[in-house]
Amino acid sequence: MSMDQKLSKAADLLRGSSRAYAFTGAGVSTESGIPDFRSPGTGLWSNPELLALATGDVLQRQPARFYSVFLPQWLAYQRAEPNPAHKAIAELEALGRLSGVVTQNIDGLHRKAGSQVVWEVHGHLRHLVCGSCGAPAPFEAAEDAMRKDALPPRCDCGGVVRPDVVLFGEAMAPDFERALAALRRGCDLMLVVGSSLTVYPAASLVRFADAFIIVNCDPTPYDGQAAVILHGSAGRILPELLDAVKEAK
Ligand code: APR
Repeated sequence: MSMDQKLSKAADLLRGSSRAYAFTGAGVSTESGIPDFRSPGTGLWSNPELLALATGDVLQRQPARFYSVFLPQWLAYQRAEPNPAHKAIAELEALGRLSGVVTQNIDGLHRKAGSQVVWEVHGHLRHLVCGSCGAPAPFEAAEDAMRKDALPPRCDCGGVVRPDVVLFGEAMAPDFERALAALRRGCDLMLVVGSSLTVYPAASLVRFADAFIIVNCDPTPYDGQAAVILHGSAGRILPELLDAVKEAK
């Protein structure tokens, strides 16, 4: 099947669905300048030292080291802008073709692109929280602490202020249960974009879809069950898919 035929089939599925959701991973943001985790050679986790640091345990035991490694990354995320893939997903929602987005990403780019229903199952970087009392803290508290060489930032209660994200070994963000409840109410189609579909429990959400389309550069373990697979750049394919949905008679 040619790319045009695949796009046409995916557009037909989106037009024919009554409750479709997008499910996105780091691959939807790489064209915004944010590296993903597992792309061969370029993914962040290609550096085993970095992967070993991204745990709740390291944040507890070596908070200054944790922050000094990841804070520059998060600051880069905050400067990133949505790319055509995020914008196409937001427009599909505005057209009524998507009921929302479930994202594994913490970069906030779906909201920035205009998506209204967004479940951030691995958390977000809009503000920090105190690991002890749970009080929210402005993200700037971390930048100030870094400038003063006083990492990690501390809460008035003395607790370590931390990002409101899910680190390896930690419980999922509250949005995970919200997304699960929505999908349980019905998901006749899922548009998977830019995920290796290898990290659980997030990847298990795909199983709640009656059918799914995958847009990804590399193969995933779910390719064999996908209704349509569109291999290539999300920033190119999603606008083409949006056009195919809009063109359809
Ligand atoms: N267009 C389409 N696909 C892309 C693009 C792109 N521009 N760039 C990368 N990809 C694909 C890669 O081929 C890869 O399969 O996106 C996928 C990203 O996979 P991962 O790096 O594993 O990211 P993700 O699936 O989001 O990881 C899930 O793992 O480490 C945790 O918390 C982290 O949320 C993350 C979770």
